[in-house]
Amino acid sequence: MTTLLVVLLCLCASLFPTLSTAKQSPVHPVGSGAEIDLENDPVSADIRAHWMRRAISTLSDLQSTCPFAPFGAVIVNHTVTEPGEGELVCIGVNAVQMDGNPTLHGEVAAINNCTSILTDPAGKYQLSGPDALKAFSDLSLYTTAEACPMCSSAILYGAFREYIYSTPIHGPNSLLAHGWPQIDLPSKEIFARSLGREVRTRIVPQVLANETEGLFVWQFGDGACPASCVKEQDERGWCVEGEKQEVPTGKKASPGREL
Ligand SMILES: *[C@@H]1O[C@H](CO)[C@@H](O)[C@H](O)[C@H]1NC(C)=O
Ligand SMILES: *[C@@H]1O[C@H](CO)[C@@H](O)[C@H](O)[C@H]1NC(C)=O
Ligand SMILES: *[C@@H]1O[C@H](CO)[C@@H](O)[C@H](O)[C@H]1NC(C)=O
Ligand SMILES: [Zn+2]
Repeated sequence: MTTLLVVLLCLCASLFPTLSTAKQSPVHPVGSGAEIDLENDPVSADIRAHWMRRAISTLSDLQSTCPFAPFGAVIVNHTVTEPGEGELVCIGVNAVQMDGNPTLHGEVAAINNCTSILTDPAGKYQLSGPDALKAFSDLSLYTTAEACPMCSSAILYGAFREYIYSTPIHGPNSLLAHGWPQIDLPSKEIFARSLGREVRTRIVPQVLANETEGLFVWQFGDGACPASCVKEQDERGWCVEGEKQEVPTGKKASPGREL
């Protein structure tokens, strides 16, 4: 019992080395929760749009063309050929239902996938655990919707170089506006409230939100199905794969399904 306690304490101390030096750390380091002004984004709007569209296409790659939970993410190395297009490291989609794991939001799924790829002994990178962890600080995570507090925290702990989201949690045309159950806490605030840890991740908000919003409008609202999906003619009224056709409006999806 005592041994267990000592082991746990040591583990905690090594996991949180910054705690012991918290007194010397700036409370809100410069840049914490900073958003990139899109006018001054070092990466071009075309390249941002390219990778956000790739995040959208992960849904049809790994899930379906009209997934209930259309949360997809890609992780990209923009430092490789900067200011070129960048290089894809891994992709991920919300796999909460598929895998029966409540932590597998798109962003966490992508991070898990990147860790597997970066540390694969037979793979392209063959990094050790500590080196894989460090590698994230070169990388940019694109996600179809603003990260929830769990995923924002994971992005913060990964010390990603950038985090780029499309549909926001709050505000006009947001997840909340379309009826999605959400913790109403923006990533920016999670980052800004981080103490004793340097926050280096730059946030690039609402990239291509005009193209992701349509993915989120039918589950809890009356919005149309995405292209190449149709509304099921039953009580559930979900969008399912099929040819586009005229559908009656006014049907609400039952909000019983966990995301
Ligand atoms: C990202 O690019 C930089 C610069 O070329 C390189 O040093 C780093 O290893 C790359 N990281 C990954 C995970 O590919
Ligand atoms: C992990 O990322 C790779 C590379 O993008 C992709 O081929 C693969 O399908 C992804 N696996 C999962 C489980 O998402
Ligand atoms: C969405 O907006 C971007 C510019 O921000 C534009 O390039 C793109 O064509 C728009 N997409 C659609 C489907 O209108
Ligand atoms: Zn999340």
